[in-house]
Amino acid sequence: MHATVNSSITPQLGLYKLLRALSLAMDYNRNGLMRHHQRVALICSYLAEEMQLEPNTLPQLYCSAVIHDAGTSTFSEKADLEKFETIKPWQHCERGYRLLNTMPVLAPLAETILHHHDRWDGQNPSGLAGNAIPLHSRIIFLADRVDVLAQQPGGILDNREDIVRRINNHSGTMFDPELVNAFNRAARKESLWLDLTSQFIDSILDSRLSTCPAVTGQEEIIGVSEIFAEIIDSKSPFTHRHSRLVANTAALLAGKAGFTSRERKNMYVAGLLHDLGKLSIPEEILEKPSGLDKREYNAIKQHTYITYQILNMIDGFEEITRWAAYHHEKLNGEGYPFHLTAADLPTGSRIMAVADIFSALAEDRPYRRGLPRPQVAEIMNRMVKSNSIDGEIVEILMDNYREAEMLKDELAAQ
Ligand SMILES: [Fe+2]
Ligand SMILES: [Fe+2]
Ligand SMILES: [Fe+2]
Repeated sequence: MHATVNSSITPQLGLYKLLRALSLAMDYNRNGLMRHHQRVALICSYLAEEMQLEPNTLPQLYCSAVIHDAGTSTFSEKADLEKFETIKPWQHCERGYRLLNTMPVLAPLAETILHHHDRWDGQNPSGLAGNAIPLHSRIIFLADRVDVLAQQPGGILDNREDIVRRINNHSGTMFDPELVNAFNRAARKESLWLDLTSQFIDSILDSRLSTCPAVTGQEEIIGVSEIFAEIIDSKSPFTHRHSRLVANTAALLAGKAGFTSRERKNMYVAGLLHDLGKLSIPEEILEKPSGLDKREYNAIKQHTYITYQILNMIDGFEEITRWAAYHHEKLNGEGYPFHLTAADLPTGSRIMAVADIFSALAEDRPYRRGLPRPQVAEIMNRMVKSNSIDGEIVEILMDNYREAEMLKDELAAQ
């Protein structure tokens, strides 16, 4: 058995574009998709223009802006950050800092993320004040608070004066006074406010932030995906390490099925990101052990749709998108969300479905221990009989069960 699709991750993909697409998944809250990270990047671009920042420093600013709240993945934490005067912003700064620091490709952004809620007048756990706070952190902090204020009801141009007044009230205390001056100049432009609330924000970002030449290759894509797997899994103790186990299991099965090394790496990336859309689901639904009502199950069903739409935006991710996002489709056409059938489901997608089911059954959950092999085999065989999943892939898993279990044990020990 061998994968027939043959495409690769394009090495020309910009890091900023990759982060911008993936961070959309972090932008869901109770009101739906808020595009907070993109809007903060947009405001940063206006501030950078007014401050005449060196063009070669901009890619790093935009990459940081578009991922600044990487340390937050629960709806309840996000709700706190949506208040102008946040109560406890430090935790997510430190978590984001630690997270990004684990990956060489994102480590240069970590310092900016650590300080992105630091006040200009000090009193920060970091101990920094004034110009000692990294400039990019100061810019993102101001842009972030402007975006929070811009969420109030009413027309954005009608609210402009009020937003400007509130930001100026905190000049020299919360915010760098020079930066507030730059903001005041930018705020005179109606386009800033209209861009912020525009339906066309994607193309606006494309043209305004075109100075981002950072390129990235397959190893860097893996690094970024590992960070996102961490963000997805940290949303709930129920999904702790799930993405990484699925990724490792899927890569293992792909190898046994004869996939090339490049395809195995793509499979690993697809596994890391397969549940990206889960960031759009409230924790209390994800954490319900069983007995979901219809409304809750409908909420669950949107997660693979969102995984699909976000990954599909990324150049060179065509294969990864199909392998990642079809993991709840079934050969008999009874899966979701596309109701694909056997003819539409490539081997990679079938592997992902089996890897996901194995992981979900074999993992320990807070409310139960992982199931032993005989029970996993029984459940899977039933699914093969009903033509839900591919029997050949299940056979590969069963032939290599000890190896798959070792992956699980290794991850559980970390
Ligand atoms: Fe934040
Ligand atoms: Fe934020
Ligand atoms: Fe899933």
